[in-house]
Order: sequence, then C-alpha cells, then structure tokens
Amino acid sequence: MKKVLELKGVTMQFGGVTALNDVNLHVNEGEILALIGPNGAGKTTVFNVVTGVYKVTKGDIVFNGDVSLVGKKRWQITEAGIARTFQNVRLFGEMTALENVITAGDVRSKSGFVGSLFGLPRSRREEKANKEKAMELLKFMGIDHVAHKLGRNLPYGDQRRLEIARALGTQPQLLLLDEPAAGFNPSEKVALAETIKKIRDAGYTILLIEHDMSLIMGISDRVVVLDFGSKIADDSPQVVQNDPRVIEAYLGVPADAS
Ligand SMILES: Nc1ncnc2c1ncn2[C@@H]1O[C@H](COP(=O)(O)OP(=O)(O)O)[C@@H](O)[C@H]1O
Ligand SMILES: [Mg+2]
Repeated sequence: MKKVLELKGVTMQFGGVTALNDVNLHVNEGEILALIGPNGAGKTTVFNVVTGVYKVTKGDIVFNGDVSLVGKKRWQITEAGIARTFQNVRLFGEMTALENVITAGDVRSKSGFVGSLFGLPRSRREEKANKEKAMELLKFMGIDHVAHKLGRNLPYGDQRRLEIARALGTQPQLLLLDEPAAGFNPSEKVALAETIKKIRDAGYTILLIEHDMSLIMGISDRVVVLDFGSKIADDSPQVVQNDPRVIEAYLGVPADAS
C-alpha cells in the first residue's frame, strides 16, 4: 500500500516541553486515519509540523514516499498537496463564503497567485472555471445557499463546513482535519461523518483529529493514539477501543483499577 505521509522519529520540543517524542506514523493512500489522544497529547502539533508551521526538532516527514517536508514553507506544502483545517476556525471574515474557496484555488491557478499579487488581470476563462469549482465545493459541503454571505456572518457550523470546502479548494491529495466536529450536536456529527466518508470516496486521503469516539469508530480505517507526545497505539478502531493503555490514557486510571 502506498504511504501518502510518513513521520519518521519525529520529536518536537518547545523549550522544555516535548510535544512529540520520537513519533513514527504513516497514512496510507485512500484511508481515513484517526489521530486521537487526551488534550495536550500532541495531535495538533502533528498537523503543525506536517504543514510547516513548526520545524521538527528531530526526525523526518516524508510525503508520497520521497519528498521531505522538513524545512519547506507552508505554501510549498500546500502546493505539494496537503491542506488542513484548524481546531479554531480560521476564515477570511470579510470575504464571502464563495470568495474564501476561490482564493484557496489560487495556489493551483497559473495566473492566479502571483498575478493577483501584482494586480494583473486573470484570464476570464480561468476565473469562471475557478468560480464554478468553488461553487461545486460549497454545494458538496451543503452550504451553497450561503455562498454570498460574509465569512464572519455565517453560523458556526457553516463556518466549519466552509473551512473544509476551502481546504478542498486547494486540490489537496491529503486533507488534515483538526476536530471538525467540535461544537456540533449529534445529528450534525452524523452528517459530518457522512461527508468525510464522501470526501474519502472522492479520492482524498484523510488524517482526522477527533474526540468523539462514536464518530471515529464509525468512519476510520485505522486509529493512532498519542499520549504525552508518544504513540501508544496504532491499530483498527476495534482493537484500539479495547486497548488497556488507551483506556488508561483517557480515564487516567489503570484499566483494571475500576
Ligand atoms: N507553540 C507552542 N509553544 C509551546 N508549547 C506548545 C506549542 N504548541 C504546542 N505546545 C505544547 O505541546 C503540547 C501538545 O499540544 P497540542 O499538540 O496542541 O495538543 P493536542 O492537540 O493533542 O491537544 C502541549 O503541552 C502544548 O502546550
Ligand atoms: Mg489540538
């Protein structure tokens, strides 16, 4: 099976804090891999080192088998084919939902990014195609009815869905979702789980940070568990769910002490 992403012995230290401690993990092409663990376990730090927000203290991060991401800039990593959403929604509040997604597509358009920096006119045809693609993504996420509303005026749930649409707008190969269901009610969570499956079925590979166990158990192919920066489990959802170390990490007591 092809590995889309591989972390090899990754350590990330912030001063005296070891956020990741010699972590080895990989994401197979076409799978939904869940990354779970208690608060502060290092999950978001994995996203931050993969996307170039932080440079690893030690180890390597390899994309598609042969491209090292260490030392690359954020935009280079986006361009390589990795997109993410954030634990706390980050959108362009003063742009419409549609504009948020169109802007994401600039990373792929020929006249787009540099052209727009220098105020050069883009080809009309390319602009129209980008707009249509962005509209399709909004529809896919079920938020095309708010296409022309400003990001900051969208209800919270739509903002979260828009963030995913925007990430998809960069045409990634690998999509990193950081707690996409945070703040969702049970029925919104079920709908989101279906959407994540649809995204995978459309050909994307997904690395998902999530707390909701039933959501994870329902959609992930494999689960990696972090605890205090170290990987403590890496297996099928069923096996991980019954792993005494995982139960202990979550409950803070030995599994047999209850
Ligand atoms: N920029 C940073 N500076 C200092 N410490 C950080 C920074 N980012 C993360 N950490 C620390 O690293 C640990 C893991 O954080 P994080 O990856 O956000 O955890 P999780 O997403 O699993 O809740 C925490 O102890 C956190 O305080
Ligand atoms: Mg986090």
